[in-house]
Amino acid sequence: MSGLLLLCSVLSLWASVIINYLTSKSFSIEGAVCGAPGQFCADQPSGLEAFAGDSVTFPCSFVFPRNVTGITNVTIIFQAGEGNYCGARIYNSGYGNTTQGYQGRVSLVGDPWTRNGTITLTNVRARDIKSYCCRVQLLITNKGTEQWQNGRGTWLTVRGENDITMHQPPFIPALVGDTVTIPCHFSISAKKKIQNMSLSSVQWRFSTQYPGCDTDIYNSAMGAVGSERMSLAGEDGAAIQIKHVGLSDSGWYCCGAQVTGDGQVYRTERMRGTKLIITGKTNKTKIEQPKEVTFPDSPTISCNYTLPENEDPLWVGIYWMFGDPREGFAYHPDPELIHPRYRGKTRLVGQSDLYLEEVNGMDNSSFYCRVAMRLCNSTLLNTVETLLGEGTGTLLRLNADQSDQTKIIAASVGSVIVLILLILIILFLIKRKGTRKQLQQSEQKDPVHGGNGKTVTTEYDDLELVGREQKTDINYYESVGETPRASSDPSNSGGHLLYSTLDHSRSSSNHKCSPVSGQEVFYADVKRY
Ligand SMILES: *[C@@H]1O[C@H](CO)[C@@H](O)[C@H](O)[C@H]1NC(C)=O
Ligand SMILES: *[C@@H]1O[C@H](CO)[C@@H](O)[C@H](O)[C@H]1NC(C)=O
Ligand SMILES: *[C@@H]1O[C@H](CO)[C@@H](O)[C@H](O)[C@H]1NC(C)=O
Ligand SMILES: *[C@@H]1O[C@H](CO)[C@@H](O)[C@H](O)[C@H]1NC(C)=O
Ligand SMILES: *[C@@H]1O[C@H](CO)[C@@H](O)[C@H](O)[C@H]1NC(C)=O
Ligand SMILES: *[C@@H]1O[C@H](CO)[C@@H](O)[C@H](O)[C@H]1NC(C)=O
Ligand SMILES: *[C@@H]1O[C@H](CO)[C@@H](O)[C@H](O)[C@H]1NC(C)=O
Ligand SMILES: *[C@@H]1O[C@H](CO)[C@@H](O)[C@H](O)[C@H]1NC(C)=O
Ligand SMILES: *[C@@H]1O[C@H](CO)[C@@H](O)[C@H](O)[C@H]1NC(C)=O
Repeated sequence: MSGLLLLCSVLSLWASVIINYLTSKSFSIEGAVCGAPGQFCADQPSGLEAFAGDSVTFPCSFVFPRNVTGITNVTIIFQAGEGNYCGARIYNSGYGNTTQGYQGRVSLVGDPWTRNGTITLTNVRARDIKSYCCRVQLLITNKGTEQWQNGRGTWLTVRGENDITMHQPPFIPALVGDTVTIPCHFSISAKKKIQNMSLSSVQWRFSTQYPGCDTDIYNSAMGAVGSERMSLAGEDGAAIQIKHVGLSDSGWYCCGAQVTGDGQVYRTERMRGTKLIITGKTNKTKIEQPKEVTFPDSPTISCNYTLPENEDPLWVGIYWMFGDPREGFAYHPDPELIHPRYRGKTRLVGQSDLYLEEVNGMDNSSFYCRVAMRLCNSTLLNTVETLLGEGTGTLLRLNADQSDQTKIIAASVGSVIVLILLILIILFLIKRKGTRKQLQQSEQKDPVHGGNGKTVTTEYDDLELVGREQKTDINYYESVGETPRASSDPSNSGGHLLYSTLDHSRSSSNHKCSPVSGQEVFYADVKRY
């Protein structure tokens, strides 16, 4: 028995549901009791939309107390009713039979042994517009049956070929203070060939109590009716965004739209909306994430969570948010809801770890692991409550990014130095060539004008002209400019050598000196310099 208790406590809630069932089955004779009892629940979305002729899948997940053991059969029964009533049974997965009107159209696609009672209805028609309830029946050894159902069911809206359908998520959990986006998309019948669809107006309605909405809260013609915090968002502009949500924003949100397609106008509205569930942070989920992670050395931020003991969730959702205050989702199962900065750059690895690719303009920001879950309300029979927990955040440090920056800076400084050196070398070569030319010219002219100072000055005036022509290069211009000054003041050491050379050549090889010999003298002089 202690072994059994150990087994029961070791059984993570998330550890395969199948194991749970297997233990229930194998220990049925001993009457195993694992932990405290939960409740009986069946969870379904409040509404679905489909076009006539299409198939529609009704999700249904369920839980029951762990001390219910000895189960031999799990049967899913589907009921259809008008209004808010579940109505008559139309399908029984145990016998695989359906009532008239549904023959051959209903099948169980979920695995009830993994608490999945999902049902598909094919070839939907206008008279299928009803509420469909998922009922679970457990056949228990020596105890008969245990059965329960979802009380509200899923309302099916069937649209005609000339209608459009609206798609919204069934529920969105959020924390007080979040900015929430409720997506809304329209689609046309596959049978319709409309070239050009465009959204001409959007409207949102709200209800605090019922999935069908009644109060206008947003209208694209008038803007927000109720709150300044609301605006349209999303790719096609039909989603609604609500800033800094508070508890009073909890309720149902239904999207409606007017769409123009090939000159025709289509109008539609959701019969059942998205349930926005605003809560405080729960402390029932233990969420662990590291305090810091260095990127990109470690592109994965780990997140481990443990769900409340002795409770089996109907559903678990993992999200990653970033920023203080929270700017948006770094990861969300619906890519549309991921902040543009991270869209396509993040994914979940393992159960809940965040894998992050390098993002432009990334800075040290904190990432928060969020775990949402739907549990059977422990106090009110057959009601579902949604809890949302959040980790303490992981600071993503960008050390390697900085070293990258250093590398970039080093590389650019290096190339600038190389460039300057190159320019200097070119300048030097050009200058040398120019000086040489000038020397040649003076050698040639000297014999004509005779060796007086004035001749030299004119030579340098000429050179100055040459220099001015090459103004683009300042270094060259300045070095050339220095030389005439030297000529006017022979005592100036800067140009002295050059002059002495000139004078020297003049004195040594005056009248008969060839330009070639003058060149030679110059070279010798440079060496001396
Ligand atoms: C499960 O436990 C609850 C409360 O402890 C009890 O009322 C219920 O009868 C138990 N069910 C089974 C099948 O043992
Ligand atoms: C399926 O068959 C069983 C046994 O004959 C019957 O009790 C039940 O009402 C049938 N269910 C439906 C949905 O036809
Ligand atoms: C229980 O399941 C077995 C086989 O899985 C099936 O033969 C039997 O008809 C089922 N009983 C009921 C009452 O659904
Ligand atoms: C239930 O089964 C359906 C059909 O196989 C599947 O698409 C769905 O993901 C399952 N739901 C859960 C919660 O596993
Ligand atoms: C769609 O409409 C736009 C303007 O409303 C028009 O410019 C475009 O040619 C149309 N495209 C088609 C395929 O009809
Ligand atoms: C969780 O929060 C509740 C109130 O919100 C508090 O009473 C309880 O002590 C907290 N539990 C833990 C483990 O922090
Ligand atoms: C999560 O669990 C894994 C495996 O046990 C461990 O390596 C990792 O450090 C844990 N992460 C945190 C944040 O506790
Ligand atoms: C990121 O953190 C590192 C280490 O603390 C720090 O040196 C760096 O300046 C930070 N970068 C930014 C953009 O805040
Ligand atoms: C859970 O049950 C309690 C007690 O009846 C109730 O006050 C609460 O509103 C229920 N929670 C939900 C989410 O239905």
